[in-house]
Formats: sequence, C-alpha cells, structure tokens
Amino acid sequence: MFQDLKLYHRDSFITTNIPAFKDSELRTALQRFLGLPQSQRMEFSQKELGVAFDGYSYLGQTDSLNQYDKDLLHSFVLSDISDQENFPEVFQAYLSQEFPEQLVWIRELEKEVLKRLGFNEFGAFYENHIKHMVSCNFYPELAIKARNILPSERLSYHTDVSLFSVFLFGLESGFSYERASGDKVVLDHIDEVVLFPGHLMELMSNGKIKALKHGVILPENRREQRFSFAFFSLPAPQANIQFGSFKGSGKDYYEQYLNQF
Ligand SMILES: [Fe+2]
Repeated sequence: MFQDLKLYHRDSFITTNIPAFKDSELRTALQRFLGLPQSQRMEFSQKELGVAFDGYSYLGQTDSLNQYDKDLLHSFVLSDISDQENFPEVFQAYLSQEFPEQLVWIRELEKEVLKRLGFNEFGAFYENHIKHMVSCNFYPELAIKARNILPSERLSYHTDVSLFSVFLFGLESGFSYERASGDKVVLDHIDEVVLFPGHLMELMSNGKIKALKHGVILPENRREQRFSFAFFSLPAPQANIQFGSFKGSGKDYYEQYLNQF
C-alpha cells in the first residue's frame, strides 16, 4: 500500500510525498458547529462529554485539557473512543463515512512509519491499544482591540499526547516547531500529508525519538482566520498498558502527560 511512500525528516517533523486529503466535509461541519448558539455548543463541552479529550474547548476557557486560556482558538475533538451518537448532529455525516475510512488509512500509514523508524516491535501494542481522535481547530480573526497587544503566539508551544500526530489535510501557514538546537522554524502551508511524534512515542522509544515541540504563530495580517485538523493516535482511557517504566490505564497515561504542564 505504501511502497512509493517517501518520508522526509526535518528534526522530528516528517513530510511525505502523499498529496493532502480534502478537508471540506469536516471543515464545513466545524463551521456549522461554531455557528450554533453558545448554549447548544456548551452541551458538547469537553467536561460535558467526559471521555478522553472529546468535545468542545473555546477561546478564553480556563479549564480545557488541551488548550490554555490564552490560546486563540476554538477546538472540537472527535474520536473513535466515545460513541458516535454522543457527538453533535453536524458531525454525524462525517463520522459515519469519511472518519472511519480516514482512520483505516491513517492506521496503515502509522504502522508503516513505525516500521521505517525501526519500531516493528510496537506493532502489537498499536493493534491492541491505539485509538484515534481528531482535533478540529479554528482560529478566528483577532478582535480589533487585541490586535496590537497580544504576544506572537496563537497556540502555545507544547508536545502532543499522541504516538503520532498526523495532518491528513496538510498544514496552513503559521505552524512552528522547535529544533533540537532550540531554534524555532516557522512553516509555510504544506499540501502533503505530514506527521510528527508525540509524548507517547518519546516514552515508548525511551527518548530515542523526541516528541516535537510545536505551536502556532500569529499571522502578520491579524484578520486572517486559520483552520487545522490534527489526527492523534493514543490509547483508549480504559486500555491496560505497559511500556518502559510505565504501567497503568490509558487514563493514567493522559494524567502523566498532562502533569508536564
Ligand atoms: Fe499540538
């Protein structure tokens, strides 16, 4: 399936020769969700759903698991961990059709990348425990009063909870990552599938593969909106997992990851 796959490594950041998939269905669903009245959106808040990282986090929120209150985005996390019917109506068509097809493809890609990185032995762990979530992110244009006073970051630097984070739809400009030397690299938009390792890969490889530290910078034009869709591979909360010195449930693993912040 991936005999023509090429991986280009820039530090821990990996670009491929695979043209990006189209995000139109998921982007439209996210836009429709964000167009709902706030009271309806809040019915699907992360706290309300209460499973893994699933649900809605909003700009200015102080208790989101996956973003800081200073981060300038709205996000909705979908997954194959929660039951499909727990997600909003606007996402149902995507969840029924494209999402499962995309996850089948991403699973094959990730297993191939593991193989090429020399981690064939993670195959069984992957098959038994790895689920997926997709974080759908929308960065609105900045309010006029905020345009001059804000720091340069739209999303603070962090590592992801994932084994890999896959950008199936490519990347819009503004993505930035930190090199091993500490220098920051800001990327222009990319029209191919890209991916990078997260915290789980760093733990499982005993630090041989480093989780990529990354963020999003503000564009020069403060009115520019931005979308991004990141697919994360991660253990289900109820999974019983063991690697290196870690032993516990998937939920214990999330807590260990969140304790870094
Ligand atoms: Fe991230």
